[in-house]
Amino acid sequence: MATVDPSPTLAPTLRVAPSILSADFGSLAAAVAGITPGTDWLHVDVMDGHFVPNLTIGPPVVASLRAHSELYFDTHLMITDPARYLEPFRDAGADGCTVHVEVGETTALIAQMRDLGLRVGLAANPDTAFEALEPFLDQVDLVLCMTVFPGFGGQSFMGEVLPKIARVRAAADAAGLTLDVEVDGGIDEHTVVEVTRAGANVFVAGSAVFNRDDPLAAVDGILRAATEERAGVAS
Ligand code: DX5
Ligand code: ZN
Repeated sequence: MATVDPSPTLAPTLRVAPSILSADFGSLAAAVAGITPGTDWLHVDVMDGHFVPNLTIGPPVVASLRAHSELYFDTHLMITDPARYLEPFRDAGADGCTVHVEVGETTALIAQMRDLGLRVGLAANPDTAFEALEPFLDQVDLVLCMTVFPGFGGQSFMGEVLPKIARVRAAADAAGLTLDVEVDGGIDEHTVVEVTRAGANVFVAGSAVFNRDDPLAAVDGILRAATEERAGVAS
């Protein structure tokens, strides 16, 4: 559960969560090893061909990766029936799972994730209102604001999501909740500045990391840009 802090921190840890969706699936372990010195999280995109029009990976791939990595596996379930797969992903080595609020049954899914010992995330598509997330803010550890429509890497960042990010952060601060606010889609060393200003602190980046010549330098560049933006706001 999100911790209640009597003097709420306005500065939860900034981190980049590289998305393996844009990595070479034939050399996943090597791709993950390449970015590992730069971060402590790995974003794992799970798609079922139903909630989104794409198919990606399932628990066996997570289990294979687990044997090669000690990173925190931030598992983004873009699937219609997460209740059926939460336990297999936990058993495969997921540390946290994020389900979409659009699939419904959110209260039950949060309880199931807690029972399984998973860190709890709740995601919203770009056109899903803040109000859909609001009732759950004190029950989750992470809120993921999609900054593209989920399904594919390499899409353009949607700036119209910025007000929702700011509302999530403001509501968390007002309630004294230390909440990870994650953004996913079109994040690079430029767009990370805007989302940091809005209140995000976890930055998923796929193509801006793995489609670069030097993925580790790309991770560092995104984190540096976010850190500089926060320092500028603070000073
Ligand atoms: C999109 C996925 C993202 C994707 C982001 O549906 O949830 O995690 O990998 O890719 P980029 O960073 O290229 O937009
Ligand atoms: Zn994702």
